[in-house]
Amino acid sequence: MSDTLEATPSDVELPSGLLDFLRCPTPDTWLQWALENPELLLIDHAQCEKKAASTAMSLLYRYVDQPLLMTKMSQLAREELLHFEQVVKLMEARGIAYRHLSASRYAEGLRRHVRPQEPERLVDILIIGAFIEARSCERFARLIPHLDPELARFYRSLVKSEGRHYEDYLMLAQHLSPAPIDKRVDFFAECEAQLIVTPDTAFRFHSGVPA
Ligand SMILES: [Fe+2]
Ligand SMILES: [Fe+2]
Repeated sequence: MSDTLEATPSDVELPSGLLDFLRCPTPDTWLQWALENPELLLIDHAQCEKKAASTAMSLLYRYVDQPLLMTKMSQLAREELLHFEQVVKLMEARGIAYRHLSASRYAEGLRRHVRPQEPERLVDILIIGAFIEARSCERFARLIPHLDPELARFYRSLVKSEGRHYEDYLMLAQHLSPAPIDKRVDFFAECEAQLIVTPDTAFRFHSGVPA
């Protein structure tokens, strides 16, 4: 692997505990894959922002008896849609057309473990939300040193907001769970790390490593 792929950059601060929450760092081979696919990276990134907003909206509709959850999800949906608009604008400026991409295995690979009954279902969805946000945050930080100044500046702002989303999801999972969530966090940490370190079929923002 090229020695240009340094680990976490020094000028980007991640929320404390985020790198311990994730069981493994993003492999250098994914980073290389991303840098070879700048258009796919942005298109899939845009799609992830839209999906993040839609997940927040569905929680907003489903759990109407949870005021803290509703407030946080409403704020989160607005922020993710703003991110979506920002990515699309950046793509337009670069002549990259937005198009539909098949989803990576990542989110479904986590969601298939969601327990069906409440409140476990909600707790699992919130824990998964924390992992998706934490991984996004970590990947933005890893990409920044290798990007052009405009994209690096944008991703630096996203490290801050996705880091906050990670903290909010984790706080909500703890707040809304009748039991300690440590074991469930450990379980999803293990699943998440497997999806990150194992070979994947196509490059996506949350894909594993090239086969
Ligand atoms: Fe976002
Ligand atoms: Fe987010």
